[in-house]
Amino acid sequence: MKKLFLAGAAALALSLCASAQVKVLGDRIAVNTANNSLILSARSGSSLGFLHFGARLSDADIEALQFAGVRPLNAYPAYGQGEIREDAIAVTHPDGNMSLDLVVENVITDSSRDTDIACITLKDKVYDFRVKVYYKAFKDVDMIETWTEIVNDGKKPVVLRKFDSAFLPFHTGDVWVSHLYGTWANEGRLVEEPLQRGTLRIENKDGVRNSHTSHAEIMISLDGKPSENTGSVIGAALCYSGNYHLDIITNDTDYHRLFAGISPDNSTLTLDKGESFRTPELAITFSDEGLSGASRNFHRWARAHKIAHGDRERKILLNSWEGVYFNINEPGMDQMMGDIASMGGELFVMDDGWFGDKYPRLNDSSSLGDWVVDKNKLPNGVGGLVETARKHGISFGIWIEPEMANTVSELYEKHPDWIINAPGRDVVKGRGGSQVVLDLSNPAVQDYVFSIVDNLMTDYPGIDYIKWDANMSVSSHGSSYLPADRQSELNIRYHQGFAAVCDRIRAKYPDLTIQACASGGGRASYGVLPWFDEFWVSDNTDALQRIYMQWGTSYFFPSITMASHISAVPNHTVYRVTPLKFRIDVAMSGRLGMELQPKDMTPEEIAQCKQAIADYKSVRPVVQFGDIYRLVSPYDNLGVASMMYVGQDKSEAVFYWWRIDNMYDSHLPRVKMAGLDPDRNYRIVELDKAPGRPLSFEGRSFSGSFLMDVGLEMPGGFSRDLQGYASRVLHLIAE
Ligand code: GLA
Repeated sequence: MKKLFLAGAAALALSLCASAQVKVLGDRIAVNTANNSLILSARSGSSLGFLHFGARLSDADIEALQFAGVRPLNAYPAYGQGEIREDAIAVTHPDGNMSLDLVVENVITDSSRDTDIACITLKDKVYDFRVKVYYKAFKDVDMIETWTEIVNDGKKPVVLRKFDSAFLPFHTGDVWVSHLYGTWANEGRLVEEPLQRGTLRIENKDGVRNSHTSHAEIMISLDGKPSENTGSVIGAALCYSGNYHLDIITNDTDYHRLFAGISPDNSTLTLDKGESFRTPELAITFSDEGLSGASRNFHRWARAHKIAHGDRERKILLNSWEGVYFNINEPGMDQMMGDIASMGGELFVMDDGWFGDKYPRLNDSSSLGDWVVDKNKLPNGVGGLVETARKHGISFGIWIEPEMANTVSELYEKHPDWIINAPGRDVVKGRGGSQVVLDLSNPAVQDYVFSIVDNLMTDYPGIDYIKWDANMSVSSHGSSYLPADRQSELNIRYHQGFAAVCDRIRAKYPDLTIQACASGGGRASYGVLPWFDEFWVSDNTDALQRIYMQWGTSYFFPSITMASHISAVPNHTVYRVTPLKFRIDVAMSGRLGMELQPKDMTPEEIAQCKQAIADYKSVRPVVQFGDIYRLVSPYDNLGVASMMYVGQDKSEAVFYWWRIDNMYDSHLPRVKMAGLDPDRNYRIVELDKAPGRPLSFEGRSFSGSFLMDVGLEMPGGFSRDLQGYASRVLHLIAE
């Protein structure tokens, strides 16, 4: 670790102190990845200046920045002294002073195998109050994480009123933002809009599930209307599991100003003497290869550094929910396990409905909290099921919802004070008319939540996978654990408690696969993925709507995180009937699974799924670890959506084409591929083959440049089998 005190000209003497990615050049700090640079000016006694984030700059260009007209902006603006615009931090000192005046005290750089870090300590000119601003550059991926540590070195408590992770400005022009919105059963919908005067606020205040209605990730297209494969794009993702805000403020300056962090609303924090608070990371990336380029940066970073088991192939599974709902019983589970095993699946997940003793879980109105097996449904317990799975040659997974209780449960009878609720008020109940959220700010509750997983894993070490659900918001603000003067900290303490539990689980069970589910896609977030392998994209498994949701979700999250299941028709949420081929072809673009009752399928359907699973296995490394290139957006209403994954060495690719408009006489565009090696020839093999005559290009080879400059003509007309829902999945194999 190198500590540098920069003081005007004296700092120049230290100017050659450089590590691989973070360089200190005079009073400049360059935080570099292979293709990105973030440049700061850090002069002792002055505010920290932001100069550049975007394309990688040479040392000479960094030195010349001032001649390019670039003027430093305050990199972490504080309220109350000089900053008249929005601020990243606001505090109240013990004497009531509401202002901060932060200047650079020192710079520390540090290096590890994967990253270089710059930590700039800012100190208030008068008070013993510091903010350490961190920038972490990754050596193998284009991503920089930035966050702060806020430290009260004074003798009395300081109240934090706002405490953003980061501030990031980008120059005005024809600048657009892309972000995700939605609701239950319609998560991850894409919205693209030009940035105009005013404030664009993306926020979430659910308390628990923070990605249903909005997402804490954005893309900023700097060169006009967003384009998938060209143009300069900045991506940013706030890695937090709780309430957040991302504000983009556009006013009378030449910069759009992004502030991102934990939502400070109703969440003031008090730092006692000597205490500090670490804000969550904002991960930022830049690409000059359009939105898909920024997505590839997110995906590579996620797989290599951010998500649980990012380098591990995901198993093909059957989940019991849409197949049997709460109707769990031993013969039924045995049959489903046998069926998925015979189709080539590798894992069976028993969903809700298996637990409860005094109050058996027959529907959603009781039993959360009572994590003991219902012996009437499962006389041989979970152990019996794990053994049955073993006999079928597959792994076993189980559903839990550990952060929650029902008021109809033995847990609530014993610990009514463990739930979140405003003191002295009626209990606000959610799902099933009796669901409540447990108070994870309470260490006793943390121990209990940890014990749910710990007991299951100790009693049944054969459990391979946990589906961790969360189906309620913080709807009544109050904790019986937190003292009266700390009630405002509940939302933040809850997520600190959640993180502490997840840390303990991962320390003891590093190999366990865990899915983050939260009423569908309520936890598609880099705030939870460090502990979780994947998330359930949505409770809506309708293939057509999934194309839109998975498209948006893929902006930020790699395919291995996106649980994508083939389900029955009519679809259980929207009642749409789509052909099995179409449902398979959509599910195959994510982490493939099934969500239906196999015994209701015809032998032909079983055979088709068996073949599809075998096909998916043959391309799994490309789908799960390849580079994404989105080609035609469903949001552009061209009648078709198309995307592809290209293997890292470009020797293989998987191309998806889905017809999304089934009006007769709609003329579909020919799709040009992307990301291939122009000089290699690729042989085309159709996967999940459509009935009827083979494609004219089946088994034929084309150059990468032909496929990218001209493209193949997909037969996408109407047929008795596929109606208007034609779809194709092609495997491209370099020769
Ligand atoms: C939530 C999940 C579903 C399912 C049910 C079980 O709604 O999103 O996938 O697990 O709970 O009750």
